[in-house]
Amino acid sequence: MKAIVVSDPAAGTAGMTLTERPEPLAAINDVIVRIHASGFVPTEMEWPSTWADRAGRDKTPSIPGHELAGVVTALGYGTTGLSVGQRVFGLADWHRDGTLAEYVAIEARNLAPLPGDVDFTVGASLPISGLTAWQGLFQHGRLQAGQTVLAHGAAGAVGTMVTQLAREAGAYVVGTGRAADREKALDFGAHEFVDLDNDTLKDVGGVDLVFDVIGGDVQKQSAALIRAGGTLVSIVGPVEARPADGLAVDFVVEADRAELGEIVQRVRDGRLRTNIGDVASLDDAISALNPTTRRLGKTVIRVLP
Ligand SMILES: NC(=O)c1ccc[n+]([C@@H]2O[C@H](COP(=O)([O-])OP(=O)(O)OC[C@H]3O[C@@H](n4cnc5c(N)ncnc54)[C@H](OP(=O)(O)O)[C@@H]3O)[C@@H](O)[C@H]2O)c1
Repeated sequence: MKAIVVSDPAAGTAGMTLTERPEPLAAINDVIVRIHASGFVPTEMEWPSTWADRAGRDKTPSIPGHELAGVVTALGYGTTGLSVGQRVFGLADWHRDGTLAEYVAIEARNLAPLPGDVDFTVGASLPISGLTAWQGLFQHGRLQAGQTVLAHGAAGAVGTMVTQLAREAGAYVVGTGRAADREKALDFGAHEFVDLDNDTLKDVGGVDLVFDVIGGDVQKQSAALIRAGGTLVSIVGPVEARPADGLAVDFVVEADRAELGEIVQRVRDGRLRTNIGDVASLDDAISALNPTTRRLGKTVIRVLP
């Protein structure tokens, strides 16, 4: 099969090559999916799981990409719940070969059915950004209607999902980002916007939940805004700043079939809009994944045109 592979952590996305790899085999509880579209998070090249298996052993050359939408072509020993020919989307295991390829072997529990009226490109754009937003807001952040959320990077892949889901849940959403992101963040539902390069976070006042996608000083300044009983949720590694009287949580997104179902249903009925930027074929993936201009939305590789 055709696949994108990486071999050198120092080379990052610039070290990607398009090559031939053996088709994967289905292990216990796996399915094989013929991938139609794959999502990609640019920071994957910095994640240890891109380079090593669960035991820490070098697994290069490895296939990156962890979001997929496609069609099940084979079942592993003992696999239940999905069938050959079914449209699916989901989140591939961090430590196994990923989704920038024509086929992937993936545990069935990491997948959900993709309704027939949702395009594969849309399906592949949702798993990481949608699940991360859902889990950060509702599981780790315990968001309640009427609360205020500070949604950092509100025009980004995760931030646009955070903004929309928080607003739907009845929260007041303060989005942040670059000056150029103001209109987009407001368009995705932020009630107000803070330009982190020119405005002052202190002026935001008290918030109940900070959804941090940036870290560093922005995280520290945001922790100071959290009201008693509030939560700092970070997705960029161990938290360095803790609210004076609240919780701090950092987490890595997990696959969840029921949550994927909630997310895709919102896309179908218009409550959730995707934030897709470039769409490229597998043959053109390397240049799409090494853009020369700022990314505006999620890059999706359309593996099967
Ligand atoms: N733990 C997890 O499970 C998990 C899951 C998903 C993502 N992540 C991580 O979360 C981060 C965000 O992911 P994403 O896919 O949403 O990325 P993204 O689409 O690039 O969105 C991030 C947004 O934040 C903006 N931003 C970053 N630093 C900023 C700063 N200092 N001031 C103003 N705006 C700033 C970015 O603008 P610029 O493009 O101009 O920088 C971009 O608009 C990444 O580091 C990713 O690895 C973690």
